[in-house]
Amino acid sequence: MSKAIDYSGERSSASLPPGPRGNLILGVMPEFNRDMLGFIERMRGDYGDVVRMRFFYLTVVFLYNPDHIEQVLSTNARNFIKSRSLRTPFFRRLVGNGLLTSEGEEWKRQRRLAQPAFHRQRISAYGDVMVEYAERMMSGWTHGEVRDIHRDMMRLTLEVVVKTLFDADISGDADKVGRVLSRMVKPFASQATLKWILDNRLPTPTHRRFNAAAREIDEIIYRLIAERRSSGSDRGDLLSMLLAAHDEDGSQLTDRQLRDEVMTLFLAGHETTALTLSWAWYLLAQNPEVEKTFHAELDQVLNGRRPTVADMPRLQYTERIAKESMRLYPPAYGLGREAIEDFELGGYCVPARSQVFMFQWATQRDPRYFTEPNRFCPERWTEEFTNSLPKYAYFPFGGGPRACVGNYFALMEVVLLLATIGQRFRFSLVPDHPVKLMPAMSLRPADGIRVKLEAR
Ligand code: HEM
Repeated sequence: MSKAIDYSGERSSASLPPGPRGNLILGVMPEFNRDMLGFIERMRGDYGDVVRMRFFYLTVVFLYNPDHIEQVLSTNARNFIKSRSLRTPFFRRLVGNGLLTSEGEEWKRQRRLAQPAFHRQRISAYGDVMVEYAERMMSGWTHGEVRDIHRDMMRLTLEVVVKTLFDADISGDADKVGRVLSRMVKPFASQATLKWILDNRLPTPTHRRFNAAAREIDEIIYRLIAERRSSGSDRGDLLSMLLAAHDEDGSQLTDRQLRDEVMTLFLAGHETTALTLSWAWYLLAQNPEVEKTFHAELDQVLNGRRPTVADMPRLQYTERIAKESMRLYPPAYGLGREAIEDFELGGYCVPARSQVFMFQWATQRDPRYFTEPNRFCPERWTEEFTNSLPKYAYFPFGGGPRACVGNYFALMEVVLLLATIGQRFRFSLVPDHPVKLMPAMSLRPADGIRVKLEAR
């Protein structure tokens, strides 16, 4: 049983969750920064499903139980706002007050305006773009060459998001947006917790570089918006849809709001999808039996022709590969919220203003819900298994009102790109290039994934 506490003066009689004491000043931050993923798993083993700790001056609670996660993300979502990690000046400068970061009425309005752009029918039109861009990428590949498949997937999904957002090709402006964006995101790659906890506005070189990059990107995006506004044409892309979106009272998004939305979609939509693909290739390269079944499906369903959206219902095993990859290597490996009022969860009191974190990384590898949790096994995703799973034991796209608005877009892109590329090439890992996990803003391979290409 979990409930928001009627907070009319008395504190809940429930006790505070257990957890480590940590360092006198920094709390558990040093330990967390040293080995984030290991720490997350260790806490569950040492203290159970609800764990309380201190990060510097902030109370932080980790949740591992799907029912508790459901309470926070869905059933009692109104008692939570996004965590402080999304409210730092760094992050604000990046995505402003877009769909990912806004709250309350403003978020509701934005979601209402943006949602139609993500309807299945509208999104389906982008399927051909995805396949065409993958074909173009592969036309430069040769049998036997060694490539960083993660870098290739990043570029490919950037091209797709640029084309679908702006109806622009990767050349010129769009390419520059990609380059500047990756420069901007870099500071998030290291010392993540220090960066988000310390409200650091000092004019350090990192900050200066970040702000300069932000100005560059703003200039490009504002110009693209202005050009589109003056031409008034509906190009069938997301920007056209956002420009045309009217609220009930007739109001539209301002240039500033459009800029924030576009940046949000760039950021939320490109790396996450690239990572899903990269990890899927990594897992396939290590699991020849799975790869064999994958190839058999592609040969049977497609027989050498290009896949289309219409093939998706028959590319079931490919879809299971995507699902299972996101289970083992969830691009968004953790989600954070801040409690508005005290909250009771699993018999414990979660105090107001706690930063509450839920980790796909931990829960999706929990042996209570997944047998042989570390094994890559797309076969497990039968309808029966899916129905028997607690709803929030698997939540790569989050859940509740703030669930990913692009989840269908992402799944379609992953399945179509896996099928297009998997038809023509297979990959083997380069032995002297170990793949290391880097939990930055998303779950990245620290030094890419080097593979040898084999034409099929
Ligand atoms: C495999 C790919 C993707 C993954 C794993 C992913 C994951 C997520 C997750 C976990 C959230 C919830 C964040 C939270 O609750 O704090 C989210 C939100 C969001 N995602 Fe995705 N995402 C993916 C692809 C995309 C794509 C392709 C787009 C758009 C083109 C997109 C746009 C967004 C937006 C705008 C939000 C905020 C929604 C809101 O708060 O109303 N995502 N995503």
